[in-house]
Amino acid sequence: MNKPLSVIAGAQGDKPMGNADGERLDRRIPVYGESQRPPRGDYSRAGSDYTCAQNYSAYTAEHHDLYRRLYARQSALLPGLACSDFMAALPHLGASDAIPRFEDINERLFKATGWQLVGVPGLIPEVPFFTLLAARKFPVTDWIRTPAEFDYIVEPDIFHDLFGHVPLLFDARYANHIQAYGQGALKAHALEHDSVEPIPHAVEMLSRLYWYTIEFGLMRDAGAGGQVRAYGAGLLSSPGELAHCVQSGDVRHIPLHSRDDLLRCMASSYKIDSYQQQYFVIDSFDRLQSLTQPDFRPIYQALNQRRDQAA
Ligand SMILES: [Fe+2]
Repeated sequence: MNKPLSVIAGAQGDKPMGNADGERLDRRIPVYGESQRPPRGDYSRAGSDYTCAQNYSAYTAEHHDLYRRLYARQSALLPGLACSDFMAALPHLGASDAIPRFEDINERLFKATGWQLVGVPGLIPEVPFFTLLAARKFPVTDWIRTPAEFDYIVEPDIFHDLFGHVPLLFDARYANHIQAYGQGALKAHALEHDSVEPIPHAVEMLSRLYWYTIEFGLMRDAGAGGQVRAYGAGLLSSPGELAHCVQSGDVRHIPLHSRDDLLRCMASSYKIDSYQQQYFVIDSFDRLQSLTQPDFRPIYQALNQRRDQAA
């Protein structure tokens, strides 16, 4: 999506986005329709739910070769940096020498966790995105970057979406969490737009959780002797930030274990145009699921109270 990046659809493919000048961004991540640039994909192909058929015949030999090279480069970087569950799940994507067909992955994915991939032309608005997740449908951009974007792409393309997000959808605990996120986000949107007693900023707060977990999450990986490893898609598909997030001495690893940690995470702004300086670290997907299961309304209210006090 040449456009609006959405946390949601998973911004950030490879490396810092935009100008890496370290500017701190305190605004919410832009979403579809907010950018001055037009959407990069062909939205005339999409239906009212923003999904479209994967335009497989449009892929050229160069597109397939680019996917092969991206997959080879990134998979070689994973050992010692990606979490063990991701390492175990990656082969579910299938052959890496050509762009996969969504229907082939869906055959395996539906049997494994009841999820399905759906094609989208690029980033999509929040509510349609949340609605798809709540229905166990994961939107995957169906176009691939240009060769000039091999090291860096602003918006998510098919490589980011497939390589970064899809393997862990074969893991039942993680797959359940993504659906719960979609359901929770629809609730947050409804709370924020309630005509009687709206709760401001609810979706923004939840999008920060998405950013620091589903896109840029780290875990103390029991399968790797308790070492810190990446499970966020923005990290797993990034050739530079993957090592940075795990090995750099200049980043903070902040535990995400308790309700207080959750409040801290959801009150933390993030960067969309450079590597993160802080990452939140869970100790298991079970913990992530249990932490995010309770009703978030009191959390939104507590965070808004802090906001008001700080103003
Ligand atoms: Fe993503």
